[in-house]
Amino acid sequence: MSNYIDYIGCDDAELDLFESQYELPEGMCYNSYVVRGEQIAVMDSVDARKTDEWLNRLSASLGDARPDYMVVQHVEPDHSGSLGALLRRYPEVTVVASAKAMQLMQQFGIAPQHSQVVKEGDVLDLGGCTLRFVAAPMVHWPEVFFTYCAEAHTLFSADAFGKFGVYGADADDWACEARRYYFNICGKYGMQVQAALRKVSGLDIRTIAPLHGQVLEGEQLAEALRLYAVWSSYEPETEGVLVAYASIHGNTRRAAEQLADILRAKGAGKVAVTDLTRDDMAEAIEDAFRMSRMVICASSYDADIFPAMHLFLWKLGMKGYRNRRVAIVENGSWAPSAGRVARAMLEPMKEVTIVEPMVTIRGSLKPEDVPALETLADTLLAPSPIE
Ligand SMILES: Cc1cc2nc3c(=O)[nH]c(=O)nc-3n(C[C@H](O)[C@H](O)[C@H](O)COP(=O)(O)O)c2cc1C
Ligand SMILES: [Fe+2]
Ligand SMILES: [Fe+2]
Repeated sequence: MSNYIDYIGCDDAELDLFESQYELPEGMCYNSYVVRGEQIAVMDSVDARKTDEWLNRLSASLGDARPDYMVVQHVEPDHSGSLGALLRRYPEVTVVASAKAMQLMQQFGIAPQHSQVVKEGDVLDLGGCTLRFVAAPMVHWPEVFFTYCAEAHTLFSADAFGKFGVYGADADDWACEARRYYFNICGKYGMQVQAALRKVSGLDIRTIAPLHGQVLEGEQLAEALRLYAVWSSYEPETEGVLVAYASIHGNTRRAAEQLADILRAKGAGKVAVTDLTRDDMAEAIEDAFRMSRMVICASSYDADIFPAMHLFLWKLGMKGYRNRRVAIVENGSWAPSAGRVARAMLEPMKEVTIVEPMVTIRGSLKPEDVPALETLADTLLAPSPIE
C-alpha cells in the first residue's frame, strides 16, 4: 500500500451470511495491515475462518522479522478471531488496545502475555512511523478506536467505511454495498459516527484503511466522507420513494405496484419497490434510509400485521430510522388491523411524519380505491424534505 503499510487481509467468498443475517452476493473480506517503522505493528486480525491464510500473508510480509505490536481496534470476532493463533505463534508481541477492548478480549478467551492500554490521543512510536489512537466508541461497539498514521497520511477506520464484498468487489461503485453495510450495522449510531469523524476532520487523511472493503483514496475517499456525513445525520440521500410491501396472496402487492406507478407518473424521483417477504431485508432497510419518503403496504394478519412488515418496521425502529415522511396502505378482508399496528410502530420514531389519511383496501384493489391512492401520493410528495 505504501512504504509504511502492507495489506494482509483475507477474502471470504464462501461465507453464507455476514453476522448470520446479511446476504453476501459478492462475499466478504476481513482487512488487516502491517505497519512498519523500526518496529512493526499488525493492525487487527481476521475471522477465525481465515486464520491460516492470514498468518501466511503476515509471514510473507514480515520476512525474517517478527511483529512487535498487535493493535486491536475492534474485538468483534470477525476481527479478533485469529488473535489467539497470532499470540501462540508470537507470544512476545505486545497487544495494544483500549481498556474496554482488553476486557472484551478476556471475555472472548484472548489472554495476551504483554499488553499496553491506550487512550484517546496516545501515540505509539514505531521509530520513523507513528500511530495515534482516536477513540470511536459505539462505531459500532464500545471499545473501538480509529488509528492515524501521520507519516502515511492514513486513517485506519475500523468498521467505519466498510462494505460487503470481497476486496475490490464493485470497486467503481463503493457506495452500493457500503450503504447497505452502514445502515444495517452502524445505522443506530449516527451521533457517535459524527463525533468520531469530527475528531479526525483536522487530520491530513489521504488514505482510509477500513476493516472491510477497499482502501479509499482520492475522489473515492472524498465521496465516502461526503456520504458518511449525509448518512450519519439521517438526512435523505436521494429524492425518491421506497414502496415496501408485505402481501400474503398478492393483492397488497398489486396495490403497491399500482401506487409505485402513480408515484412515478407524478415525478416522485427514484421509486424503488421491495417485497419484504422475498427480497433482501437489509437492502430494504438501506433504501428506507436512502430515500426521502416511504410507503408501506401490508396485509392484516391475525388482528395484527403480516410478519414480514412487522420485522421490517421493528428493524427500522432499532436502527434509528427518522426524519422521513411515511404513507400507509393497509389491506384487510374483515377487520383491517395492519394500519393501526404500523402506526403504533412508526409513531415513536423521531421526526417521522405519517401521511394522512392512511388508505384501507378491502381484500383487493378496486377502481374506486384508486382516487385514494392518488391523493395519498400527492400528500406524500409535498413538500420535499430535501429541497
Ligand atoms: C392467517 C391469516 C390471518 C388474517 N388475519 C386477518 C385479520 O386479522 N384481519 C383482516 O381484516 N384480514 C385478515 N386476513 C386477511 C388478509 O388480510 C387478506 O387476505 C389480505 O388483506 C389480502 O391481501 P393479500 O392478497 O395481499 O394477502 C388474514 C389472512 C390470513 C391468511
Ligand atoms: Fe464490527
Ligand atoms: Fe467488522
